[in-house]
Amino acid sequence: MAIHSPTDAAVRLAADCLRNGQLVGLPTETVYGLAANGLDQQAVERIFAAKGRPASNPLILHVPDVAEAIQWISVETQSRISDRLTKLSTLWPGPLTVVVPRGKGIPDAVTAGGDTVAIRVPDHPVALTLLRQCEFPIAAPSANRSNYVSPTAARHVEQGMGDRVAMILDGGRCRSGLESTIVSIAGDPVALLRPGVITREQLQAVLGEPVQPPTQQVDSGPLLSPGRLPTHYQPTKPLWFVDDYPEGGDAGKVAYIAFRPDTERQAKFAQSIVLSETGDLGEIAHGLFAALRQMDESDASSLLIDRCQNDGIGAAIMDRLNRAVSAESGRGISQE
Ligand code: TXA
Ligand code: MG
Repeated sequence: MAIHSPTDAAVRLAADCLRNGQLVGLPTETVYGLAANGLDQQAVERIFAAKGRPASNPLILHVPDVAEAIQWISVETQSRISDRLTKLSTLWPGPLTVVVPRGKGIPDAVTAGGDTVAIRVPDHPVALTLLRQCEFPIAAPSANRSNYVSPTAARHVEQGMGDRVAMILDGGRCRSGLESTIVSIAGDPVALLRPGVITREQLQAVLGEPVQPPTQQVDSGPLLSPGRLPTHYQPTKPLWFVDDYPEGGDAGKVAYIAFRPDTERQAKFAQSIVLSETGDLGEIAHGLFAALRQMDESDASSLLIDRCQNDGIGAAIMDRLNRAVSAESGRGISQE
């Protein structure tokens, strides 16, 4: 069985697997990661092969604390960015990734050859214990096949990765359930690259300065942050926002993911799932990806989902959904 309870022995085994250049399924508070030794170019290349991910899409380095993060930042720029990093690191450990000028010793495969590197300190006891045992940072993207929905349970990693991973540490259901917020302090102004449960408003409050909202990358130029491409996170079955679904569509085969109870609407469809009794955005984020996977595995032919307000955590939820809905549903890629 590839899935291991996170006992001391299992965490030690995971550290050994990483030392040997193997891949490990790693729980974090956001989503499960596909972990490799971030200083081992060949191991990092295995991540790209296992995910079917283009080599142009860089990875996040995970470290146990801010002191270690600083080691991977370009020395020349440390004084320029240290004030901002110190402020942002008050949110670590936590669901925040910070893009900084890249320091020495990081393999090109991690950064896709770019001159910046994305770093985060995850807020999960199993991830932190493993990171403290490793003499190296851990490179880890979300542990899904490229473009599929991110995994929020050990079982999801097993389904997507099978024996491409040496083992999976089971850290339970991911608490926050959406990938980390990504903010860049590599240039000016500070820029939000990917919304998450740490909101732009929170970042601005911590930094005491404006943070530029994400911009949509739609052309085929060099990838700024490929999470910015219009499609991503897509289930296999067609996904529609419920209010875009055409009247007279085949309700009998449709599965509906509701953000709060709506018994009248739920009754119209073959199956439904409710993510929050009260419409709480944190709860919706927590259950969103597991619900998409569950309904994708069901016998439904199409999936419908609610919308929510496009601010705070809602901005992160709508960001993921705008990329996940199918083209034929009139995907709303314009945002922010
Ligand atoms: O919550 C998370 O961030 C999870 C857990 C495992 O930590 N990881 C994750 O990784 O979501 P991934 O690879 O699925 O998404 C990372 C995003 C990608 O869109 C990538 O393009 C962007 O971060 N990224 C990585 N390095 C970057 C850099 N130097 N500059 C800009 N964007 C970068
Ligand atoms: Mg991902």
